Amino acid sequence: MKKQPVIILTDITKDYASEDMVTRVLHEISFRVNVGEFVAITGPSGSGKSTLLHIIGLLDLATSGTYFLHEKDVTKLTEDQQASVRNNEIGFVFQSFNLLQKANVLDNVVLPAIYAGTGKAVRETKGRTLLEKVGLADHLLKRPNQLSGGQQQRVAIARALMNDPSIILADEPTGNLDTTSGRDVMEILKSLHKEGKTIVVITHDASIANQAERIVKLRDGRIV
Ligand SMILES: Nc1ncnc2c1ncn2[C@@H]1O[C@H](COP(=O)(O)OP(=O)(O)O)[C@@H](O)[C@H]1O
Ligand SMILES: [Mg+2]
Repeated sequence: MKKQPVIILTDITKDYASEDMVTRVLHEISFRVNVGEFVAITGPSGSGKSTLLHIIGLLDLATSGTYFLHEKDVTKLTEDQQASVRNNEIGFVFQSFNLLQKANVLDNVVLPAIYAGTGKAVRETKGRTLLEKVGLADHLLKRPNQLSGGQQQRVAIARALMNDPSIILADEPTGNLDTTSGRDVMEILKSLHKEGKTIVVITHDASIANQAERIVKLRDGRIV
């Protein structure tokens, strides 16, 4: 089967402007990811990894260049359309989990489905299934701070899966975890890859990067 690109970035640049100067943090990045691929992005701190992932995930916009996602030029979408693509086609996992501390585990997981307009019964059934899948069926009503870091990250993965995205983007998902919990998180990402999801993970840990099919290295905002 021919490999289909799902993410095509061409000559992407990103500038940050402060009062008196403009700093370019991404320089003409061209990069594609095929459907079902598992790619690791590595590079030193400050090399632009998170900036790049945020652009891929439509959390941020490039200064110039083109970005086609599922054959659509995302720079031509309205903000609402971009938000909808982000919510339905992309699942995010962050280093610091980004869970709502005031909500219980199940409510955290179903949140993206609320934005998507899914009814309560359907989303809660789905949320329970996903929490079972990540081994947290017994923790539905706990608050995130009653869980270990590894468990919190698994909640975040369940949340990322809520709207059945085809793409998972993870920014240092094991960065705040001990080795064992980090391994569990990687096993989950690998099983999602086997199910056919496209996965892009940022890491500066070589043992994590080596588990991907392909490693892309960034340095000073350029692919090396
Ligand atoms: N919102 C921002 N405003 C200004 N500069 C930023 C902003 N976000 C990131 N940067 C700068 O962009 C560069 C790349 O940052 P980042 O993408 O977070 O790198 P990495 O994830 O590889 O550590 C860094 O020099 C950082 O200071
Ligand atoms: Mg970063």
